[in-house]
Amino acid sequence: MASKQMASYARNSIIQKGTQNRMKPLIEAAIIDLCTSGRTSSLLPEKMVIADLGCSSGPNALALVSIAIEAVHGYYDQFQQPPPELCVLLNDLPDNDFNTVVKGLVMLRRSNEPVVVTGVIPGSFYERLFTSSSLHFISSSSCLQWLSKAPEVLVRNQIPAYDIDEHARHERLPMVLEAYAQQFKKDFTHFLALRAKELVSGGRMVVSLIGRPSYVISSKFFHLWEIIAQILSVMTLEGVIDKAKFDSFYIPVYGPSCKELRDIVQEEGSFFIREMQEHDPTTDYANALVTPSRFLNHWRAIFEPIIVQHFGDVMDEFVRTAEQRWSLEGSIQDERSRNPRVMLFVSLEKAQ
Ligand SMILES: C[S@@+](CC[C@H](N)C(=O)[O-])C[C@H]1O[C@@H](n2cnc3c(N)ncnc32)[C@H](O)[C@@H]1O
Repeated sequence: MASKQMASYARNSIIQKGTQNRMKPLIEAAIIDLCTSGRTSSLLPEKMVIADLGCSSGPNALALVSIAIEAVHGYYDQFQQPPPELCVLLNDLPDNDFNTVVKGLVMLRRSNEPVVVTGVIPGSFYERLFTSSSLHFISSSSCLQWLSKAPEVLVRNQIPAYDIDEHARHERLPMVLEAYAQQFKKDFTHFLALRAKELVSGGRMVVSLIGRPSYVISSKFFHLWEIIAQILSVMTLEGVIDKAKFDSFYIPVYGPSCKELRDIVQEEGSFFIREMQEHDPTTDYANALVTPSRFLNHWRAIFEPIIVQHFGDVMDEFVRTAEQRWSLEGSIQDERSRNPRVMLFVSLEKAQ
């Protein structure tokens, strides 16, 4: 049965691919800055360490570090100078399929000039991953909307993220949104402080994450987890899943606005913002998700593990309910235009 098969991330990551393509000029500019400051201060680095956080598996895993490697080699080629030795490290959570990642890394590895050595670093990017002042460049695409955990205040007070009762849901919405915003602020602040310890002075970081368009106010933003919560709430009403189980389900995902992100970076204080951009991702993937099955596979690739972990084997019913929703409520484009999202891109420099 098709729905028994996991909607693999490798096969359903077309939007993330578009995001990575958009990051290319930001990564190239950051690498050129790093190399130029090394040359002009005659502190030509003999080695550079590059890391990608939340690499996942499949073709996207190597894309950003490959851009960075090419940018370093291209830069030194034009001055006919030997490039620094490169160390490339890929991170994701320990459950990630690192076997396929390692096979891909072998292709990047070069034992002769120019030397490129590679490795994987399993662990959460909300913890220390690298030794102090050891990294020159960090990238991360489509990951930082994931929180370290569900908002503490909701879990502690047993407040459902999505109340099935519509009245209660509206009443609690401001509190739920604030709890998610606060958890994001706490996590992103912590993330910046950790990376600031690990980067050298002047080190660079380019990240992208899903966010809220600037023109949509917070209380009107349809959060990333709501679409999943709506489908699961129908399944709860149909008796497929237990209400208590539904009420205790939190998807730890939050999409900030550009302003929220900027405020957090400035308040934390370890980094300068070199560039910040907001893009409508639909312009990148055009009609890639026009069919309900593609749209659904995209959502499944992202959320299936967390749904199955909490509810068990409910994916057949989940797919059936979701398909019904989209065949009843009109096209996928309608769903997307009613609930706009953006990709946020930030290029940061560690303060000296
Ligand atoms: C949407 S995928 C993006 C993958 C890839 N960077 C891309 O652009 O296609 C998000 C990835 O972030 C990883 N992730 C989420 N939280 C993480 C954390 N706390 N630490 C490390 N990786 C995390 C997930 O395991 C997943 O592989």
